[in-house]
Amino acid sequence: MQFSVKSGVRASERTECAILPLFDGRAASSITSAFDRALKGRIRRLIRRGDASTSLGQSLLLRDVKGTGARNILLVGCGARSEFRPERLVRAAGTAAEALGRTTIRSATNFLGCDTGGGIDAYSAARAIVQATRFTTYRFAEQKSRKDAKARLVRMILVLEDAQSLADARRGIAEAQAIANGVDLARNLGNRSPNLCTPTHLANVARELGKSHSSLRVQVLAEAEIKRLKMGAFLSVTAGSDTPPRFIVIHYRGAGATEKPVVLCGKGITFDTGGISLKPPPKMDEMKFDMCGGAAVIGTMASIAELGLKLNVVGIVPACENMPGGRATRPGDIVTSMSGQTIEIINTDAEGRLILCDALTYAKQFKPACIIDVATLTGACVIALGGLYTGLFSPDDKLAEALTAAGRRANDEAWPLPVREEYGESLRSNFADFANSGAREGGASIAAQFLSRFVEATPWAHLDIAGVAWLQGNAKGATGRPVGLLVDFLLERQVS
Ligand code: BES
Ligand code: MN
Ligand code: ZN
Repeated sequence: MQFSVKSGVRASERTECAILPLFDGRAASSITSAFDRALKGRIRRLIRRGDASTSLGQSLLLRDVKGTGARNILLVGCGARSEFRPERLVRAAGTAAEALGRTTIRSATNFLGCDTGGGIDAYSAARAIVQATRFTTYRFAEQKSRKDAKARLVRMILVLEDAQSLADARRGIAEAQAIANGVDLARNLGNRSPNLCTPTHLANVARELGKSHSSLRVQVLAEAEIKRLKMGAFLSVTAGSDTPPRFIVIHYRGAGATEKPVVLCGKGITFDTGGISLKPPPKMDEMKFDMCGGAAVIGTMASIAELGLKLNVVGIVPACENMPGGRATRPGDIVTSMSGQTIEIINTDAEGRLILCDALTYAKQFKPACIIDVATLTGACVIALGGLYTGLFSPDDKLAEALTAAGRRANDEAWPLPVREEYGESLRSNFADFANSGAREGGASIAAQFLSRFVEATPWAHLDIAGVAWLQGNAKGATGRPVGLLVDFLLERQVS
């Protein structure tokens, strides 16, 4: 999809389709009013009769119109003009892209980001429109024998009020395109079937990424090396599977060697059956998405390499399957983590924390500036926050604030949830240092507290993406979250 920007565009400009905002009441956008005059009041009449709605999520396509330079016009509800903010522009632009996706229109001129009433600057408008359009036009048909009709919309011109902000808008487009490329990669990995998207597949994708960017160096550890490192917690999860595990490390070098890296750790369970603590059948297919944290880390590394960010980042993805079997770990088994701490495995379905704890220990050697782990970790987080927010757990207020702010800027939001000592009480074990699972109540915070035992002094945050990593129902599929949040966080952390 190709995006460009223009300013000073009028209703007479030739285009296959003009995308126009409709605001509530009398607060019409001046460009919509200009089109309305050229159409002799048709837009106002459509709104008055209720055929066109000013509400978010609504749109109306007018075909073969006469009197303007546009062959077609898409009217898009944008709500109250005084409340039009980037997140609403994302929704409106998504509605527009979805409506155009049902047509054969290939090229459109988007007026949603001009004349927004002052609530959205050119950079944010460009980012919002590109993000929404790319997200909505994404298709996944790799494993269908008959490929769905490809998204036909291939070109979009973003219109701005004044020529001075063109450079800002271009920067917004470039950043949003790079982020969308990382998001698409994460979505593809998430959507691929679990017999295709194995730990080895994730490692191969990471290696390919390393080949296409000289700033990336990729290391893949196989089982023998993982054993040598004494990652007993990680190994206990892969024990029941015939599919070999991989421990993937991606180094991004964008600053001097003395610059401490940000370390990202992503849960890469390519299928979570629960193991011997087997999950019930309904929706178990969705546990192919249990590697979405790892996919988000790989997608983020791709985006920052494309953007050439000025900082150092290490991406770590412990990847394996969680399967039952004759060699599988039993409830009651005690394993020794790489840190030396022993863990009684009460529930083999609490496997994410077991692979992450060894990844967190491994991360120490990089003397990180901070560590952020990303995981589809708990059903409890889905109950707490639903599909709107990533759960954000961090004892470090500054880091938590920076991540929350990045999420807001990227329209990929996180909400803080508590992590503290007391949540660890139910992890008490009579036989090992502690157990891998505890009470049901507060399960997301208990999991976070478990992870905190492997971090010590380094600033650390845990992102539980169990509710946001994929959509269910008709729209079933990976979202690529929180690639947007992570890239925005890293954009802001660059060294000068
Ligand atoms: N991958 C799941 C978490 C999950 C469940 C994500 C449903 C999204 C939707 C994780 O490995 C898991 O099974 N967690 C258990 C932990 C429990 C056994 C302490 C859970 O949340 O039930
Ligand atoms: Mn599980
Ligand atoms: Zn899991």
